[in-house]
Amino acid sequence: MTWNALRPLIAGNWKMNGSRAMTRTLIGDLTARAAARPDLKAELLLCPPAPYLALAAELTRGGTIIIGAQDCHVVAAGAHTGDVSAEMLADCGVRHVILGHSERRAEHQESSAMVSAKAHAAIAAGLGAIICVGETLAERESGETLAVVEAQLEASVPAEAVADQLVVAYEPVWAIGTGRTPSPGDVQSVHAHLRKLLMAWFQDGGDIRLLYGGSVKASNAPQFLGLTEVNGALVGGASLKADEFWSIAVAA
Ligand code: PGA
Repeated sequence: MTWNALRPLIAGNWKMNGSRAMTRTLIGDLTARAAARPDLKAELLLCPPAPYLALAAELTRGGTIIIGAQDCHVVAAGAHTGDVSAEMLADCGVRHVILGHSERRAEHQESSAMVSAKAHAAIAAGLGAIICVGETLAERESGETLAVVEAQLEASVPAEAVADQLVVAYEPVWAIGTGRTPSPGDVQSVHAHLRKLLMAWFQDGGDIRLLYGGSVKASNAPQFLGLTEVNGALVGGASLKADEFWSIAVAA
C-alpha cells in the first residue's frame, strides 16, 4: 500500500474542553451524520478529555466513529497518582492516543524520549499512537523546520512500531490555536520529508498516516487535505463544533 491508498483520518482533539452533556450532544450529532453517509472516505476519531472517554466509547459503540485519548503514562499500572495507563484506556474502549502534543511538551516538559516510551506503552496495549511533531516560529524563521521535525520524529517514534499502530501529526507550534497556518507548499515539503524518513526507517513506512494540524477549519481544510502526502487532519478548536468538524470530514 502507498500513501495515496491510505484512508484519511480526521481526528478531533477536544483538549481540556467539554462536559458529559456536550459529549452526548456532539457525539450524537456526528453519529447521525456518519450513519447517513456510509460512503464517507474519512475515518473519524474523537479525543475527549479523560473523564469522558468511557462515556464517548459507550456512545460510539457499534458505529463508525472511534475514540482516542490525549495522553497516557509510560507504564501499565502502579504508584503514579493522577496518571492513566494505556491499558486502562484500551479497557475503556479507546483506540488511539495522541502523544507528544506541543502543549504537553511545553506544559509538562515532555521530551521526545518520554513520548517514545509512551508510544511503546500505547502500542503494547494495542492502541494506535498519534505522535505529534512541529517547529516553533523562531525555528521556522531560522530555517530549521525540517531538522527540528526530523529530530523530534526520530527520537519520538519507537523502533518496533508498525504502520497500523502509528500515525504522525505535523503541527507547527505557531499554527496551533492561532488562526495562522503554513502555506500548502510548506506543509507538503514537511510531509514529504517525514514520509521519506518513515520509508527509510520502516518497511511499511508508506502506510503510516501523516496528519496536518494547526488551525484547521472547514474553510481551509480542502487546501491541506488535497495535498498528496497529507492523509488527514488533527483538529483542535474546530472539532468542538459539529458543523465545522463534519465539513472537514467531508473534505477528506
Ligand atoms: P487547533 O489545534 O486546531 O485549535 O489549532 C490543533 C491541535 O492542537 O491539535
